[in-house]
Amino acid sequence: MRIILLGPPGSGKGTQAIRLSRDYDLPHISTGDMLREAVSGKDRMAQKIKEIMESGALVPDEIIFSILEKRLKKEDTRKGFVLDGFPRNLEQARELDKILGDAGDFVVFDLVVGEDTVVRRLSKRRVCKKCRVNYHLEFQPPKIGGKCDECGFSLYQRDDDKPEAIKNRLKVYNKESRPLAEYYKERGSLISINAELDEEQVFASIREKLEK
Ligand code: AP5
Repeated sequence: MRIILLGPPGSGKGTQAIRLSRDYDLPHISTGDMLREAVSGKDRMAQKIKEIMESGALVPDEIIFSILEKRLKKEDTRKGFVLDGFPRNLEQARELDKILGDAGDFVVFDLVVGEDTVVRRLSKRRVCKKCRVNYHLEFQPPKIGGKCDECGFSLYQRDDDKPEAIKNRLKVYNKESRPLAEYYKERGSLISINAELDEEQVFASIREKLEK
């Protein structure tokens, strides 16, 4: 089962990907998480990528392709995967077909939310440094302030969850990523999901579509 999650920043791709990955025993492949791991180094390339991400722009395709191709060739992806944050533009969608060779047999969920919801969700998001689980100070607060319920590690606010970066990420999404829905719709793989609903309801509607 190959699942792609599309949707603007803050639509819940990461949250739903973690749940899908657990329930269906599929690897969760998040290019955002892979990049955040890659930029923990101090070299110039790492610093450059960090700056791009903090601004809300897209990291150049060649960098993404090289990290993704390696990941998709690992043994555990044979049974399928959940892709979160990739593809991000039409070039990446075409490259994904090339990497997989057999021209992708995907289920693509488009998580549809309005911009007000995006801002509300991202400005109060907190993330676990270790296991990367997402929290929200209002909608999904941790049981103990500032600590992850799952592993007890500290939670942090992402640098790109600041107001200016959120604005830019939405602009980039509208220009670069929105056309992907049409691309997959034409291939008959797209399923739109109302992602304004709460986390449980969104997951229930994804599950229902998958079981069909
Ligand atoms: P990435 O990490 O992929 O960020 P994103 O796509 O902007 O998405 P987010 O992680 O912000 O949001 P999400 O949709 O996963 O929502 P979440 O579940 O966290 O990318 C970061 C950067 O890396 C990019 O800007 C770019 O620079 C670079 N990059 C990554 N991939 C790239 C690529 N392929 N090409 C080029 N560059 C790339 O939820 C958000 C919040 O809402 C959380 O607090 C959560 O608890 C809460 N929440 C979730 N669902 C609900 C709900 N239903 N109701 C209420 N609250 C909810």
